Amino acid sequence: MTFFFVCTLTGNLVIPPEFIDEVLSRVDIVEIIEPRVALKKTGQNYTGLCPFHSEKTPSFSVSQEKQFYYCFGCQVSGNALKFLLEFERMEFIAAVEMLAAKVGLEVPKSDVKETTETSRRRKTIFEILNQASNHYREELRSHPSREIAISYLKNRGLSGEIARDFALGYAPPGWDNLYSKLANSNFERDLLIESGMVIDNKEEGKTYDRFRERIMFPIRDLRGRTIAFGGRIIGDGKPKYLNSPETPVFHKGRELYGLYEARRRNTKLIRVLVVEGYMDVLALAQFGIGYSVATLGTATSKDHIDRLFRLVPQIVFCFDGDGAGRSAAWKALVEVLAAMSDGRSVKFLFVPDGEDPDSLIRKEGKDKFELRLERATSLDRFFFSHLELDLDMDSIEGKASLSKLAMPLLGSIPEGVFKQLMIDALAGKTGLEASRLIQVAGNIPKPPGSAHASTRGIAKSAPAATGRGLAEAALSMLVKQPELSQEFDESEYERLLQNPENSLLAEVALVVQRKELLSPGLLLSHFREKPGFQVLRKFIDHEQLLDVSELREEYRGTITTLLNRFETQLKQELIKQLVSKPLAELNADERQLIKDNRRSKSQS
Ligand code: UTP
Ligand code: MN
Repeated sequence: MTFFFVCTLTGNLVIPPEFIDEVLSRVDIVEIIEPRVALKKTGQNYTGLCPFHSEKTPSFSVSQEKQFYYCFGCQVSGNALKFLLEFERMEFIAAVEMLAAKVGLEVPKSDVKETTETSRRRKTIFEILNQASNHYREELRSHPSREIAISYLKNRGLSGEIARDFALGYAPPGWDNLYSKLANSNFERDLLIESGMVIDNKEEGKTYDRFRERIMFPIRDLRGRTIAFGGRIIGDGKPKYLNSPETPVFHKGRELYGLYEARRRNTKLIRVLVVEGYMDVLALAQFGIGYSVATLGTATSKDHIDRLFRLVPQIVFCFDGDGAGRSAAWKALVEVLAAMSDGRSVKFLFVPDGEDPDSLIRKEGKDKFELRLERATSLDRFFFSHLELDLDMDSIEGKASLSKLAMPLLGSIPEGVFKQLMIDALAGKTGLEASRLIQVAGNIPKPPGSAHASTRGIAKSAPAATGRGLAEAALSMLVKQPELSQEFDESEYERLLQNPENSLLAEVALVVQRKELLSPGLLLSHFREKPGFQVLRKFIDHEQLLDVSELREEYRGTITTLLNRFETQLKQELIKQLVSKPLAELNADERQLIKDNRRSKSQS
């Protein structure tokens, strides 16, 4: 019964039922269940503790002969496929594929005659963009005029590997290369227009390719799907770069070029460098800085910042050193304040006049460039130096103006140590007391848009502000997707373990890693008799709104924040203790710690 239900649920089921029967006739249910539930042979059947309800004496029985399981306690029953669906909570098609692979069969999707309706639904904008990307790459390999594009890329110093990793392509001259290749039906024609690849000029009755005679840069989402393109003119001309328009799958102000590639390059991203141009990202990657991304000709937005901080704790913004660059950097700073929870860090790197990251890294190489990153301007330094620019800080008016300018901005920083340090720094500069400033800051309404809760999925149901809320959010992700635990090392979880708020989370992650409990079912059955089971059970029934890659992103961000918070807490506690001791009792390291702390408090 359930089986039928699942089939209808998947709607446009592409696996023929006869094939599923074939697979089930070859599979051995004991082989499927045994690695997941400890079974004992008892007479004809196998028995064990039921994985679907809590029990102390075994009432779960598996019949090899009937290829069927049944629980005398809770009456669950089914075949091997149903077991995978219910125990592992696998997707239907994935479960069939897994079973088929076990018996050496391949799921015959192509055998199925798709109705025009299903083929329509499957052929989405993503698919047409993917085809476009393949087409442009193919043109770069084989079009008669490809040499023009290849020598342009070579002259710009780009390697073949980089062209491959970033899937660069070539749109040759001509008005309808892409159009005539991909628009085989009205439906595809509409998709090409909807995806921005083809322009439909109704007045003139002309339909033509948007990108012509350009180097093509596919812009990919975190799952690697092409969602848009940038196209650079080959040589001089205008516009230098052409981008896809806004489409249902592309929102310029939200996307970052190179983010997918950066994550693919780095299993553990810890910081991201935000630059301006496509070419900057390519050159940096080629010279060993594989963690840069570019905004697409737009200012840094709150969406950009939120996305990045979900992935990494540190962002370095890179701008031109000229006036325009500084004002763009200031805009980024204002946007970023509301996201500055403790544990996050932001720096600003200004490149020398006449250079951009592309030219700079080619000139000086990775090490020198990374040294620049280390020495980049901290947020607080840029904050005050920018505000003080036109003020006479020796005068009372200057100090008053500074506090007037600074307070509304500081008011948008989330409560925490960083905010406190910024207020202390302002107090140091103006001579006003911090407590007085806080009173004022507390009364300042936050700028619109600075309420900083994630609006997606799990975060919605968990108060992101508290450590406990975050730990619960991470736990709920982990229960549903145990392999997420591999995103961090044991040592990192052990650190989390020290804080009671995170202990269940850390414990689960560690057990999953050590015992390879890589499915929700295995995880739950391990904890069945242990404290915390009810909590885990509850989480597994929470609705899952994020897909796998988003979940990974969210999980990494959440754990990173927890780790950083804990670190900051420890440090502050330590400093508190040290400060109360006589200086003579402290060793050199401890003295240094206090000194650093004072310095960061009074940094100008
Ligand atoms: P730049 O003009 O700084 O170009 O534009 P660049 O990145 O150094 O490019 P190269 O080295 O000359 O090839 C920076 C970014 O601004 C956007 C693009 O995203 C570009 O990468 N831009 C620029 C456009 O969208 N359209 C344009 O016409 C120019
Ligand atoms: Mn450039």
